[in-house]
Amino acid sequence: MKSILGIGNALTDILAILPDDTLLKEYHLPLGSMQHVDMETGDRIWSALKEIGVKYVPGGSAANTITCTSIFGMPSGYIGKIGDDELGQLFKSTMEQFGVRTTMLHSDKSSGRCMVFITGANAERTFADYMGAALEMGPDDLKPEYFKGYDYFHIEGYLVQNQDLIAKAVQMAKAAGCIISIDMASYNVVESNNAFLHNLIDKYVDIVFANESECRAFTKVQGTVEGMRELAKHCETAIVKVGKDGSWVKKGEEEYYIPAWPAEPVDGTGAGDTYAAGFLYAHSLGMPLKVCGEIGSIIAAKVVEVVGTKIDVPRWRDAKKEIKELIAANNG
Ligand SMILES: Nc1ncnc2c1ncn2[C@@H]1O[C@H](COP(=O)(O)OP(=O)(O)OP(=O)(O)O)[C@@H](O)[C@H]1O
Ligand SMILES: [Mg+2]
Repeated sequence: MKSILGIGNALTDILAILPDDTLLKEYHLPLGSMQHVDMETGDRIWSALKEIGVKYVPGGSAANTITCTSIFGMPSGYIGKIGDDELGQLFKSTMEQFGVRTTMLHSDKSSGRCMVFITGANAERTFADYMGAALEMGPDDLKPEYFKGYDYFHIEGYLVQNQDLIAKAVQMAKAAGCIISIDMASYNVVESNNAFLHNLIDKYVDIVFANESECRAFTKVQGTVEGMRELAKHCETAIVKVGKDGSWVKKGEEEYYIPAWPAEPVDGTGAGDTYAAGFLYAHSLGMPLKVCGEIGSIIAAKVVEVVGTKIDVPRWRDAKKEIKELIAANNG
């Protein structure tokens, strides 16, 4: 089976259910917002949350995708940077429990984390992110041997803010003969790195995952299909995701609309990361373009049915069965 290497911000979600919004007020966090905090504030918030009781879920976009490809059975590797602390160890060991081969780089800063305050009857979420060690990953950390033997290299768009790192990584991945994919991550990432992303994708990237707003930010074209057609001029395969309305995929003259797979959604977190994993897994098996999109949709439909980014065992079982049938139909 073909193998995949991912690179991303190694972040752990720290989730706490709070009795009221006292802590939010104390740290000046508007309800429902996402704020970046410095180390000192990050440490103080974490200590306060610990007293209440927290749940740790290692994540980050590429880490989620790579965990999922590993569960599919692809040999999967991950490069990220952590601090010399418990949270970093937890990140590494959790990835490894899912079978991922980790290359964890180390920083003097503490490990990156996304602190999630869950409050109120509607379980509203407020975020305080401390990027820490993750932001310290740089081009000098990378070695060609990290890329050897991998068939695919997957990048999370959030890393594009460190342009030198990505430039070096794609050069090494190309030299190792990898097919390169990127998930554009967020429209503000695309807007603030547009020229860099254009150059990167034109020169190096084979497969691009974008949602509608990311595609619009990249192409400046309104309209999903029109945007996808413009995006596809810059890469071999373009994917534009439209949430519950499915996705569009295009490669050369081939173009398909892929409806979303039926689901009873409870939380959309991780849909995009998981879709990418399903698509790349199918791609690695040499499946036709349409089937790659369908397999992405099947597995994404499972993650929206659970809270958080980890699909439970029964849903994995269902997904694998549905995917096996689809693959068999396309091999027959
Ligand atoms: N409610 C849903 N029901 C079924 N499938 C869904 C639902 N929401 C999303 N999906 C599937 O997940 C795919 C990716 O979701 P989405 O379009 O939200 O990507 P995204 O914006 O990159 O997500 P993320 O917020 O995770 O980055 C969709 O193309 C679709 O196949
Ligand atoms: Mg996304």
